[in-house]
Amino acid sequence: MAEEQLGLAQRRMSRRRFMMLGINATGAGIGLLIGAPIVGSILSPAFYKERFPWVLVADIQHVGVGVPTAYVVLLDQGGDAWQVPPVPRTVYVVKLNLNGKVQMLTLSNVCTHMQCDVHWDINLNVFLCPCHGGLYSIDGTNIGGPPPQPLFRYQHKLVGNNLFIRNVLVEGS
Ligand code: FES
Repeated sequence: MAEEQLGLAQRRMSRRRFMMLGINATGAGIGLLIGAPIVGSILSPAFYKERFPWVLVADIQHVGVGVPTAYVVLLDQGGDAWQVPPVPRTVYVVKLNLNGKVQMLTLSNVCTHMQCDVHWDINLNVFLCPCHGGLYSIDGTNIGGPPPQPLFRYQHKLVGNNLFIRNVLVEGS
């Protein structure tokens, strides 16, 4: 009789343990479902930058100071759900002499008003937007017409004389 009661108690215990295991597993699953997107959003900026690889523009040692020079580069679009092919983008490489020190800029040619293509006008010495007459100085500052802000700049790096950019834009100043 006592053995029967002991066996019954052990079965109850094992049922109780089974229930506890089930509850714990469910709790862990819910925690994982809630936590995974949070962890993903924290880590995604690190992966975001990797989605835009550096692309060689050119050897720029012969770009003259004060002479904006246009290059067309195939830039990665960083597709999400499917692969988006790289698209051609124009970048203006500008070397400026600031107090005897050469500064280099990599300007986007996309107007900040309504995204028309601007070009360097050698007669007026400005970047000119043909759509509504927007004007930008040699460093991309908006100086006339409707553009609300300076030209954007591509992130860039120099390896020797080789210029690399990637499809990450920063605000001009
Ligand atoms: S799009 Fe360039 S001035 Fe309007």
